[in-house]
Amino acid sequence: MAEDIAALTAQAQQELDNIADERALEAWRVAYLGRSGRLTQVLRSIGTLPAEERRTAGAAANQAKGALEAALAGKEEALRARALAREAAGGALDVTLPGRPVALGRLHPISQVLREILGAFASMGFAVVEGPEVEWDYYNFEALNIPRDHPARDMWDTLWISPEGPRAERPMLLRTLTSPMQVRVMEKTRPPVRIVTAGKCYRYEATDATHESMFYQVEGLAVDRGISMADLKGTLYEFARRLFGEERRVRFRCDYFPFVEPGAEMAIDCFNCAGAGCRTCGNSGWIEILGAGMVHPNVLRGVGYDPEVYTGFAFGMGPERVAMLRHGIDDIRLFYGNDLRFLRQF
Ligand code: DAH
Repeated sequence: MAEDIAALTAQAQQELDNIADERALEAWRVAYLGRSGRLTQVLRSIGTLPAEERRTAGAAANQAKGALEAALAGKEEALRARALAREAAGGALDVTLPGRPVALGRLHPISQVLREILGAFASMGFAVVEGPEVEWDYYNFEALNIPRDHPARDMWDTLWISPEGPRAERPMLLRTLTSPMQVRVMEKTRPPVRIVTAGKCYRYEATDATHESMFYQVEGLAVDRGISMADLKGTLYEFARRLFGEERRVRFRCDYFPFVEPGAEMAIDCFNCAGAGCRTCGNSGWIEILGAGMVHPNVLRGVGYDPEVYTGFAFGMGPERVAMLRHGIDDIRLFYGNDLRFLRQF
């Protein structure tokens, strides 16, 4: 019996060696290892042997089965590899296959809202400019009518670049607002000035749902002869309608910013509830959108503009806040968490 098995195995092995395609391989498998294959039959017949022979024959048959199964797997693998190599070499390229779609990226929700805001002002004749995020104390504070040691500095917790902080001879910092661009632009140009700028700002601040230590601001400035509060209101009203809907109403209230006089805050009637009161507007019916005001005479004088001749208005806003209101996002930190599950929604 053991000899029969050895002979069978040798024969099977030899036939296997000559097989060159998958169909022949399947026929071989059926012939030897299939349900009524030759080796299967041998295994089945072992029960009929006298007890003395059963053990050795059984062991030999099982071993043969293991060997043939392993040889089969090896052959399968070899055939697959050969087919693959042939395909690659023969240029078996199916040009009728549809192409794989290229994964398209998208603009970050803040980039989207920035483009919208800047676009609205650009279409009203404002030029878009950019400036540095690392800034001199002079532009961030001094030239904006915020002298050294003035309590107004408490409005902006600052990240200092100079190791000596604000006590350095020429202190350097991460800008806490985009307003320094007002000064940089005015220093370089003569009126009329009409610019908007957007960029990152930084504050030394613990983060929470409404505060980030890095965030964006959009800033605008218009200076010319005879610019009045009416121009400020008209321009910002138009902006509010473009961004938040034709039917928007606006509300101006007094506010304080050192670089404007008078200073104001603009709110729009809630676009979610039209003023009735809801979650978006904190039940007040109004949503504060930006700070603004008439450029302070000290700021104009600082850049060599005569405040008796030129006047202007300025405004600043947070695009994150706009995006949060729009999309009902309740945590500013989501914008900068690099979580694609969040970002892919916009
Ligand atoms: N930059 C101000 C802030 O961070 C916002 C602002 C208010 C900007 C009034 C202005 C302005 O230009 O006139 O709080």
